[in-house]
Order: sequence, then structure tokens, then C-alpha cells
Amino acid sequence: MNAYLNGQFLPLADAKVSVLDRGFVFGDGVYELIPVYSKKPFRLDDHLRRLQASLDGIRLVNPHGTAEWRDLILRMIDQQDGDDHSLYIQVTRGVAPRDHAFPQGVPPTVFMYAQPLVTAAPAQKAAGVCAVTAVDNRWLRCNIKAISLLANILLRQQAVDAECAETVMLRDGFLTEGAASNIFVVKNGVLLAPPPSHLMLTGITYDVVLELAAAHDIPHEVRPIAEAEVRSADEVWMTSSTKEIMAIVELDGVPVGAGVPGPLARRMDGLYQTFKREVMRA
Ligand code: PDD
Repeated sequence: MNAYLNGQFLPLADAKVSVLDRGFVFGDGVYELIPVYSKKPFRLDDHLRRLQASLDGIRLVNPHGTAEWRDLILRMIDQQDGDDHSLYIQVTRGVAPRDHAFPQGVPPTVFMYAQPLVTAAPAQKAAGVCAVTAVDNRWLRCNIKAISLLANILLRQQAVDAECAETVMLRDGFLTEGAASNIFVVKNGVLLAPPPSHLMLTGITYDVVLELAAAHDIPHEVRPIAEAEVRSADEVWMTSSTKEIMAIVELDGVPVGAGVPGPLARRMDGLYQTFKREVMRA
């Protein structure tokens, strides 16, 4: 039973939705991805708050209260083999004949499934990854975790085509985020993060990184980051629930800093791993 669909726990292969689901036809829905460590959903309340914000953003009534979500998610985790998972949750505006206008009286489709959490191997962390840049041509509501990810997919594929891990996006000369991650920059020992806005999705990992920086007296600033600062950075990182803290060591074919994961990336990854062990798994 590694899936849940509209009130039922069932094997993923048996989870079926109508082709008229608005998620399928319009990409009309939102999602969350919650990492589960030692069977504990990480920052569940934060994820549920972000889900609520996404649902509010698309004017879809949350089908469950926080206690109900918590119960469903814990039951879902209970049914999984293994301890670490990535739990995907998707809520769409339900099944209705194709019409752009919101359907009336249609229940949303609620889907969840769990897969083993695969984080980066230590060797890859040690080597870092390459990234490319691209103009952020997404819509202006990137703070909504919408399932309609076509722009992100096309942007991310630019990185894949260049045999790189991520596309770093720039809008109007400023850093926004990665195609599926947040981006941090280090210059002269100061950690820089773009400020949360409608132009990016504020990651739960992003929050943790800034909390760890504050707790360990690492100088940091949350402020707009100009393209030139990205290109002249000592370090660039990507962060997400699955990538954790990953150093970008080459950007558009040019080495970032010394071209190897920088000292602050290694320190932050160490802090994050300790945090995972001592807080997330505890
Ligand atoms: N995506 N920005 C975007 C556009 C993302 O897609 C993600 C994560 C993040 C980082 O969020 P978090 O730290 O909460 O994982 C930022 C997930 C992993 C995905 O879509 O698979």
C-alpha cells in the first residue's frame, strides 16, 4: 500500500483517476513533497502550511484539516517498508467536463504516494555538480507549488542536455531559484539568499539552511542577488528536500570559486547532516 487516493489506501498500480481530472487536463492542482526520516515526516506543519498557501493561491478549499492530513500522512508512512521516504501529495480541482471555469460542487482529487528517499551519494556531494543559467520565464506566481511544472521541466532539461544537475534562473538580472531547488551564494564568507517572494518557492530546506546559519553564527544576508554576484561568487549551492545542500562547482562551463565544493558548503552540509541525525530522526 504505497498510495492513497480519495479516501483509500491502495497499491500504486491500482490508483486510477479519470482522464477528465483537471490535474490531467489543465495541470489544475498543487503538490507537496515531504521527506520522511526514520518514519518521521520532516517539518510536517511547515509543509502543511505551504500546502494551504498553495491551495489558497489557486482558490481550492483544503479537503482536509491539519489533524486529518497528519493522520493520513502518518498512516501512509506506517504502511511503508523502510524508514526514509519522499512522500508526494497532490490535490487537484477534481473531475469535470473540460471547461476553464471552476466546476461547482466537485470534490478535489487527493493523491499521495511514497517512494524511497534517495539523497545524493557522499561521493557526489564531495565532487559537486555543474549547472547552467537561464532566463526565468515562468509565470509570476512561483510561490505556489503548482503541479503545472512545464516551464520548470523545460528549464531543467536545459541542464540535463548540458549534462548538468540544475538550471539556475535569473529574472530581470536577479537570481530567483533553481528549476527544482533554491539557490544560495557565498561571497567573502557571507551566505546570501534571495528573499522569499512570488518569484520563487521558499523551500523548507531553504528555511533550515538559514536557521542553521543563524544558530551557528554564519554571516548571512537575505536580499536580492544580482546576476554579477552569482557569476563572481566564491560558492553557489542548490538546496532541496532531496538534494539537501549540493555545491554547484561549475556554472555555464565556468568554475565557481576554486571549482570544488567550498568550505561553507561543506560546513553547512555537515550541520545539515547533524541536524538530520539529531533532530529530524530523533
Ligand atoms: N522541489 N524551488 C522549486 C521550484 C522546487 O521545485 C523545490 C523543490 C524547491 C525546494 O523546496 P524544498 O526545500 O521544500 O524541497 C524550491 C521538489 C523537491 C520537487 O518538486 O520534486
